[in-house]
Amino acid sequence: MQTDVPHSGSKSANLQELCVVVLGASGDLALQRILPALYTLWSLGTVPARLTIVGVALTRLTQDEYRQLALNAILAKGEPGFAADPGLSPADFVGRLHFLTGDLQDSTVYRQLKSSYLGRSRQNALFYFACSPQLFGIAAEKLAQNGLAGMDSQAQGFRRLMIEKPFGTNLQAARELNSLLHRYYHEADLFRVDHYLGKDAVQNLIYFRFTNTIFEPLWNRKYIDRIEIVLAENEGIGRRGSYYDQAGAARDMLQNHLLQLFCLSAIERPANLSAAALREEKVKLLRSSRIPQHSRELPAFVRGQYGTAGLPGIADGRAYRQEMLVHPQSTTETYVALKLYVDNWRWQGVPFILRSGKALSQRYGEISIHFRQCPIDFPGAARGANRLILRIQPEEGVSMRFNTRAPGGAEREQEELVGTLRDSASAAPGPYERLLADALHGDNTLFIRFDETEEAWRLIDPMLSSWDQPGFCALQEYTSGSRGPDISCLYRNHPAWQQNSVIA
Ligand code: BG6
Repeated sequence: MQTDVPHSGSKSANLQELCVVVLGASGDLALQRILPALYTLWSLGTVPARLTIVGVALTRLTQDEYRQLALNAILAKGEPGFAADPGLSPADFVGRLHFLTGDLQDSTVYRQLKSSYLGRSRQNALFYFACSPQLFGIAAEKLAQNGLAGMDSQAQGFRRLMIEKPFGTNLQAARELNSLLHRYYHEADLFRVDHYLGKDAVQNLIYFRFTNTIFEPLWNRKYIDRIEIVLAENEGIGRRGSYYDQAGAARDMLQNHLLQLFCLSAIERPANLSAAALREEKVKLLRSSRIPQHSRELPAFVRGQYGTAGLPGIADGRAYRQEMLVHPQSTTETYVALKLYVDNWRWQGVPFILRSGKALSQRYGEISIHFRQCPIDFPGAARGANRLILRIQPEEGVSMRFNTRAPGGAEREQEELVGTLRDSASAAPGPYERLLADALHGDNTLFIRFDETEEAWRLIDPMLSSWDQPGFCALQEYTSGSRGPDISCLYRNHPAWQQNSVIA
């Protein structure tokens, strides 16, 4: 893939020897996503055979205990859907894992990393920031100050940082983090992760929109009544309480994943598929977008938190406030919904309703395009509006709802035409495999440029700060295993809204 910033030139050429350092190595992200993805890449030969992985975390674990944890996590993922070399088993892979107990705020661990694993300057190294987002700045700074990475490091191999989301906690914090990073690093060595961009189904949105001539003429305010984007999850927060209670749904899902889906649904056609062209369109769209004025009578957003169980299986029957490492009076939202408008010729007046929540009745992600009601009808028959659904997960598909005449009868009914493009067990590499491989090759196409993140914060910052005003947007409790809080207020005053068609 093309990149818009040159990567580190000669430093990218030699991929024979690689050290991956995972910061925050005992957390769910590292164990359940990053290590299994690294295993897959290693077993496919995508990463060098001379691979060392060093996990760093505050948790006290011996090397063997860590290897066992990693092995369990990789085995629990099952076989990758595509052919891996059977000679390269998960047990062989975990033999390459090393573990360091250490505090990322303290220089000792960086000195240990250097003396034990990263002493050779020709070695390439990738630092994966899977630790608490509050530590991103300090860890980046310490890596550079200890000569492990950064523009002043003596390394001849590349030294790259993959930084998870959320990037900052608001606009100002994101800017501060970014300028700190730029003090020590070249932009070409920074890979800001949003793993949704590594999903095949998400990439496919661009192709769907811009290579099918039948959709483009309809993709505007003249034919579309509203667009709804949903990322629903049926699990609670599991072991991630200490992170999630600081983040909440808005910072965990909305500022990044949901807004990326919004961008891909609404941008203009990029000049080409390069990172630069795509990002330009996304930033332009975000700059033209706004959350409308919020009031009690006409809300623009809703936030909720899961309470006790509706279904015993969901979040193990626990309310959010009973989850491990969550404050018992926490007001962190586990559900967020909001309305956006885009002030341009294509979308003026068309609401985009975005929502995401934990501990809901089902896990799915989709973009649902609600077309306008047909302007005139035959007498006596109800007419439904057409709807096109682009399903992102669990399986990737497209469905279209249209009106037909019931066989043999005078009545009309709505038919759903459903097409599955790929199921979840498809042979495509997962998002973390793809993003890790791209970062190793210095390709930043599927990573976030700072101005994207900045515009996303600019858009939602006023909403986040208004939540501090008492009663302005009260936190609603919803039953876990339900569909979440009632968000019909977001559609108030919207002429074409039919209650039954909105909340899936
Ligand atoms: C992560 C969030 O970025 O995405 C998690 O931190 C969330 O809270 C996850 O569960 C969802 O990703 P996916 O790929 O399972 O939809």
